[in-house]
Amino acid sequence: MAKRWLDNKTIIITGASSGFGRLLATSLIQKHGCLVLGIGRSAEKFAAFKEELGSFSDRLIPHCFDVGDRAAWAAFRETLVREGITPDCLINCAGIMPPFNAALDTPIETFEKTMQTNFYAALYGIEALKDLLAKSSEGAIVNIDSSAALATIVGTAPYTASKAALCHYTQCLQYELGKKRYVGLIMPGFSPTAIMRDIKLNEKEERMLRRFSTPEDKMVKKILRAILHKRKRCIPGADAKFMYHGYRLFPRTTTKAIRYVLCKSGLPMFENVFESCDNKNQGDER
Ligand SMILES: NC(=O)c1ccc[n+]([C@@H]2O[C@H](COP(=O)([O-])OP(=O)(O)OC[C@H]3O[C@@H](n4cnc5c(N)ncnc54)[C@H](OP(=O)(O)O)[C@@H]3O)[C@@H](O)[C@H]2O)c1
Repeated sequence: MAKRWLDNKTIIITGASSGFGRLLATSLIQKHGCLVLGIGRSAEKFAAFKEELGSFSDRLIPHCFDVGDRAAWAAFRETLVREGITPDCLINCAGIMPPFNAALDTPIETFEKTMQTNFYAALYGIEALKDLLAKSSEGAIVNIDSSAALATIVGTAPYTASKAALCHYTQCLQYELGKKRYVGLIMPGFSPTAIMRDIKLNEKEERMLRRFSTPEDKMVKKILRAILHKRKRCIPGADAKFMYHGYRLFPRTTTKAIRYVLCKSGLPMFENVFESCDNKNQGDER
């Protein structure tokens, strides 16, 4: 790889116990000699991860807390100060995706929890660590956002809103910090991780999702390459690129096409979103 600025650095990764975060941590530890401070909720998952790392296991230091808890971030900062650890990069990767539902039927608590985990957690992490990051020659911040912020996907209001907020926050940060610091915005398309753990999928749904998604390892390679090249924005995955270009050129048609495909799929996971696919006016701007 051309750029090796992350080699032997201390990296904080939220959501390091599963999915993208775990694969990113594995590559950074095994291929780049990094020390990873991994944040997640599950001590069991971290124990299994450490075992999998074998002789590299001492390069992963797990910290279990809820990233949506601002006080927990302050306590984490105190631990770093006490132990004399200066992080070189913060990768905000923890995230949740609630089940598909019509926006008006989604409880406000679901919006609050999703905003807390997908948006405010990144702000809390940056708030708690910004002065420690400033002591590093890099002090980089990478926010793992989502292609959901690129287009309108009916049935995903809490997730899309949280990721849109993170997208625009990150872009403000990029322009405010200019060239002083690397701030990366990663907007992946769909990949079959455990992100849909709250959504009960049948066999057909699993098959369909796999067909239209990018395998986890391939996606993480693209994400890592973007970070190593300090790319400001990366949109990995064919579905993400379709959403980006489609929405920019034909916003209404793209939104309707996504809605049509989801609705016509007849899959049970979308049943709370659509009363009927026949109402041709649904979604039209008036
Ligand atoms: N997979 C996709 O298709 C996709 C597409 C675009 C963007 N993304 C984004 O990529 C990121 C990673 O997702 P993933 O696909 O890797 O999902 P995942 O396999 O479900 O991993 C999510 C990670 O976030 C952690 N987490 C969730 N809520 C937390 C909380 N309140 N406090 C601390 N940790 C918490 C989980 O910890 P525990 O294991 O301890 O629960 C887990 O390590 C998310 O931000 C997601 O929105 C994913």
